[in-house]
Amino acid sequence: MPGICREAPSCPILDAVTASSPATSRSTLTFPDGFSWGTATASFQIEGATDVDGRTDSIWDTFCRVPGAIAGGHTGEPACDHYRRMPEDVALMAHLGLDTYRFSVAWPRVRPDGGAVNPAGVDFYSRLVDELLEHGISPWVTLYHWDLPQTLEDAGGWTNRDTAYRFAEYTSTVYDALGDRVPTWTTFNEPWCSAFLGYAAGAHAPGRTEPRAAVAAIHHLLLAHGLGIEALRAAGAEQVGITLNLTPCSAAHPDDPADADVLRRIDGLHNRVFLDPIFRGEYPPDVAEDLAPFGLGDHIRDGDLALISAPIDVLGVNYYSTAHVEAQPPTPGEEDLQALPWAVGVDVVRNVSRDLPRTAMGWEIEPDGLRRLLVRLHTEYPAIPLVITENGSAWDDSVGPDGEIDDPERVDYLRAHLAAAHAAIDEGVDLRGYLAWSLLDNFEWAYGYYKRFGIVRVDYDTQLRTPKSSAKVYAEIARDNAL
Ligand code: GCO
Repeated sequence: MPGICREAPSCPILDAVTASSPATSRSTLTFPDGFSWGTATASFQIEGATDVDGRTDSIWDTFCRVPGAIAGGHTGEPACDHYRRMPEDVALMAHLGLDTYRFSVAWPRVRPDGGAVNPAGVDFYSRLVDELLEHGISPWVTLYHWDLPQTLEDAGGWTNRDTAYRFAEYTSTVYDALGDRVPTWTTFNEPWCSAFLGYAAGAHAPGRTEPRAAVAAIHHLLLAHGLGIEALRAAGAEQVGITLNLTPCSAAHPDDPADADVLRRIDGLHNRVFLDPIFRGEYPPDVAEDLAPFGLGDHIRDGDLALISAPIDVLGVNYYSTAHVEAQPPTPGEEDLQALPWAVGVDVVRNVSRDLPRTAMGWEIEPDGLRRLLVRLHTEYPAIPLVITENGSAWDDSVGPDGEIDDPERVDYLRAHLAAAHAAIDEGVDLRGYLAWSLLDNFEWAYGYYKRFGIVRVDYDTQLRTPKSSAKVYAEIARDNAL
């Protein structure tokens, strides 16, 4: 997620993208042998069954009860009822011929209230892993996709250093149960969202609006990542990493020193504040200086950065859009949340619209941003294999009279971004796979069920799954290993 747009403009057909993208004509862009093709989901977004088999509240269950927090007053029920329909969903992936599935484990299912292990919760994920393996699909576990046990939030959540140690315990629990069958482990999904949207913008659970708390959360999430990696390695895991939502940033007037400074700050907060501790063992000095008034230094203890920068095997990249900023007062209620200026004490930074086509989320579509991002990672943080762990788009799909869903915009978005990924590979980037967001329409956080990212439609009344045109196109691409 690149941020939150409060106003979601209507969804144009992607004329501009299709006109400029070589991906939309039938070319043959072949991906490297062994390239992974799959989809990604997250526990709270699909499972439902929020009070079943011992699961207790996560921060998202609580947040959903806050009047006005979620569009339509939607909640984690029924979501896609995946907890009960899991075998059907795995069969669907197999039907599409996908080889990898990235899912997240719900902490409050396996250690309710952050406490003792709950065998019934563990058993669900164990059955899921078995089902995937029986269908020839490689399981990829994300340990944390935002559903912190509420009890731990009550004790301070990610502002409390202790939560990082609780995460390491939880990591060991999940690895003990699944480590014999799961090859790839991701500690965190998008710590930027957890820290900034959760603790500064208040747009995500736990809904706090305290910049200092967000800064504490950044460090404790990174520390938890490091402790999680330590626990995974100690238990024998071989393929471990983290997933970041990275946002290529540019300035409206790069030669203007004020714009250049805003660009530096926003890139620092979106990207470098996570990348540099993980890959260089230090916070970028300029970002550390920007965040000093918000107490960053108070949280860093000896040894933390060594833990955080322990080698990993794969960096998951979630890419949706780009940010184009200028040093002007933000437009109230528009795109200022994407730049989150107030989180760093900048009161003049505006995310500038470039009149690019937008998805139903209001996010500008810029496939070349993905190429630039991958090349940058390869150049500035070399020697780390990359996988696109999320990329996709929401559209106002409609169901045809025959029950089919024709979604040409999603197909165009998919093909254009895969072409951009291929271009990055051509430039030498070590990209190992692509996981589409998402398998199913699902609970899109503050937007509830109104925004549909799935390549498979979910009818929330009947729970009927219907592969959209994009699912069929994606299945062909995966089958051919070519675009
Ligand atoms: C994120 C999450 C997903 C979202 C997706 C679309 O990036 O926010 O990983 O859970 O649903 O990105 O917003």
